[in-house]
Amino acid sequence: APVKVTKICCIGAGYVGGPTCAVIALKCPHITVTIVDLNQARVDAWNSPDFKLPIYEPGLDDVVRQARGRNLFFSTDVDKGIKEADLIFVSVNTPTKKSGVGAGFAADLNYVELATRRIAHVSESSKIVVEKSTVPCRTAESMRTILEANSKPNCRFDILSNPEFLAEGTAISDLFGPDRVLIGSLQTPEGKDACASLAGVYSNWVPTNRILSVGLWSSELSKLAANAMLAQRISSVNALSAICEATGANIDEVAHAVGYDSRVGNKFLRASVGFGGSCFQKDILNLVYLSESLHLPEVAAYWRQVVEMNEYQKKRFSKNVVDTLFNTITGKRIAVLGFAFKADTGDTRESAAITLIKDFQAERALVNIYDPQVEHNQIWADLTEAIPNTPLENIKKQVTISASALEACKGAEAVVIATEWKEFRDIDWALVYEGMNKPAFVFDGRLIIDAEKLRKIGFKVKTIGRGERV
Ligand code: UDX
Ligand code: UDX
Ligand code: ADP
Repeated sequence: APVKVTKICCIGAGYVGGPTCAVIALKCPHITVTIVDLNQARVDAWNSPDFKLPIYEPGLDDVVRQARGRNLFFSTDVDKGIKEADLIFVSVNTPTKKSGVGAGFAADLNYVELATRRIAHVSESSKIVVEKSTVPCRTAESMRTILEANSKPNCRFDILSNPEFLAEGTAISDLFGPDRVLIGSLQTPEGKDACASLAGVYSNWVPTNRILSVGLWSSELSKLAANAMLAQRISSVNALSAICEATGANIDEVAHAVGYDSRVGNKFLRASVGFGGSCFQKDILNLVYLSESLHLPEVAAYWRQVVEMNEYQKKRFSKNVVDTLFNTITGKRIAVLGFAFKADTGDTRESAAITLIKDFQAERALVNIYDPQVEHNQIWADLTEAIPNTPLENIKKQVTISASALEACKGAEAVVIATEWKEFRDIDWALVYEGMNKPAFVFDGRLIIDAEKLRKIGFKVKTIGRGERV
């Protein structure tokens, strides 16, 4: 029969594990939730008295305020967390491998494996182990093999896959009202019982018709597939944006018209300077790697093109800036508004802004960056990684971080909007215009500004997916 879950441990206090398990604690006051992480600074931040949490997510501090100390705890004592729990989420990072077999494509499963081995090593009672990190197909099977090979008498491990579909910036509302909760299990009586135990946790706030039970491998593949198809929509609309710019059509009108078809749907069709984030590229590359290892080269090539189109979109955008500024930006100042990969997050992983700034730097432009959330240290770390063989002090000769959008635009020849922060819509553009060199250009990579209004002020405006004259 299904075990009634009373103690949950989550290994990994990152963007996924932190918000997810904080919401579980909030919605299930009868369950004790302990989130453990090896990173002391991260755990300290989760425990900080003034709620300066390690990640920025609207509504998150409110959830943590309500549950922390009641039934939600953060700790670096991984072993204790494992020992006490009857259900364990594995929510550690799974970055793309940087070396070895599959470098640049395959997921680095080292952290998953280490966490799994730790569970096997310290457990003194039976556990339901839930794979929460996005991982390639059949990882659960490897986890199961490790757990079973190391289990002790009276200690049984049931493995589930329960991928998380939250998007950053809307994590809390996504968790409060998910489109669906997906649980994959072995189709054995024990597997189905474990699935029912986890479903019992979610049913405290998620309607049961939104909790889907499938096989272990279907669950793993569904997560990769969902992200690949979402990214594919953006690459499709971005490919169309290039046609719009070349022909004078308007991508907003095209996306609107296409999205009205209920078979297509109207969400997630916004042309942009390119998608970013920790998931889309990584998961597609995983799918490509998986397809290749299954000897399906046509399938691999199909998905790879989604990433290539995204790279092309970023390159096309920075080339457009150079071309428009009379074929040279050497020594010219460019304000980049936004550094996060999307609005309402401080996360910069795979952000299009990084690629743009790298391109501007290579053209020897001067760049002012402003982002309302991203930590300065993060910007410097990202640029140092993106621009190899250049010491930070040299990068700093070309790149400055500004304290406001207005300050970033001062003395610039061009403003580039890289992230759709709401505040960029409400900038005092007349004041920006006064402070800029003329002709003053605006490149809207996010379709957020009113181009006509800016043209009346005097700006020359270029918008993604619009073919009109500047
Ligand atoms: C994504 C998935 O949405 C989520 O379900 C999964 O769990 C993790 O990956 P996330 O990366 O946090 O979430 O954000 P998302 O809103 O999907 O945006 C990804 C990127 O696509 C961002 O750079 C965003 O700006 C871009 N995007 C999104 C567009 O360019 N156009 C759109 O219409 C939507
Ligand atoms: C299509 C468009 O749907 C329609 O809006 C447009 O005006 C003309 O082209 P049609 O070709 O008549 O219409 O049929 P449709 O139902 O779209 O099917 C096209 C093909 O896709 C068929 O071979 C169908 O079997 C196949 N299909 C459709 C699938 O294989 N899977 C699906 O999920 C849907
Ligand atoms: P995600 O976006 O998938 O949540 P993050 O990198 O934000 O990824 O978070 C993963 C967290 O997992 C990190 O804080 C990292 O320190 C933690 N972690 C990785 N391996 C282990 C482990 N074996 N035990 C405990 N925590 C771990």
